Amino acid sequence: MYASLRIAWHKEISGPGVIISVIMVNADFLVTVPIFSNLEPDDLLPLAGKLHRRGYQKGEVIFHQDDPADRMHIIVGGTIRISITSDDGREKDLAVLQAGECFGEMALLDGSNRSATATVVDPAQTLALYREDFMDFLKGHPEVVAQTTRLLTSRLRSVNLMLGDLAFLDVPTRMAKQLLDLAQAYADDSGQNGLQNKPIELPMGQDQLARLVGASRETISRALSSYRRLGILSTSHRRITILDLEALERMASF
Ligand code: CMP
Repeated sequence: MYASLRIAWHKEISGPGVIISVIMVNADFLVTVPIFSNLEPDDLLPLAGKLHRRGYQKGEVIFHQDDPADRMHIIVGGTIRISITSDDGREKDLAVLQAGECFGEMALLDGSNRSATATVVDPAQTLALYREDFMDFLKGHPEVVAQTTRLLTSRLRSVNLMLGDLAFLDVPTRMAKQLLDLAQAYADDSGQNGLQNKPIELPMGQDQLARLVGASRETISRALSSYRRLGILSTSHRRITILDLEALERMASF
């Protein structure tokens, strides 16, 4: 009897009914992803059936810069860091992506290798979509082509801003801007209406901050010391506390 119950349970979780409901859940999720947001869940059912769900652990590299590519990913949960690496091993973060965002689409679109490395920051789940399935879907859905173009354009715009900062601003100013961005993201996450001039704790190590700012750890350490001396912030193990927001804003606007 136990065996027949197990067989019944197995049918229950892996039978056609369950597969159909997983596809429907995937289609409902896909409409929240910007490149598919112009479509209805019903339009997305064919694509939803072609997604492959996988979990990744903290620190895992999903792919490296210059790897050949056959799939893109849509993040269901967790955080993924997109970075580039210099020949001597220094790293610069280009973006930190969260649930609902996608990555790995560029190499599918231009047929080249990966333009950057994707690393798991917080345990993540993604839905992988293979090149042929994505390209077939694009052929029949010009609205997804338009939204994908919009995504690539916004990534280009943010790289232009980053490039401007790298070319025109010194490290302490760039660091001040980055800390303000992180404080704003922290305020948004905690449902705060704007930034308030009270201590803001950022769970951030110097190595992470260096990758975001695009500077060496030593230069970031010196910039943090000078801001500490001015009473703008304090630091402890993997934590930076902004003490004087207005002074940090002045530093960022030089
Ligand atoms: P692909 O080149 O296939 O692999 C690396 C991925 O990182 C790339 O596709 C994009 O999805 C993503 N990526 C590359 N550059 C940026 C950027 N500047 N901002 C956000 N994401 C990026």
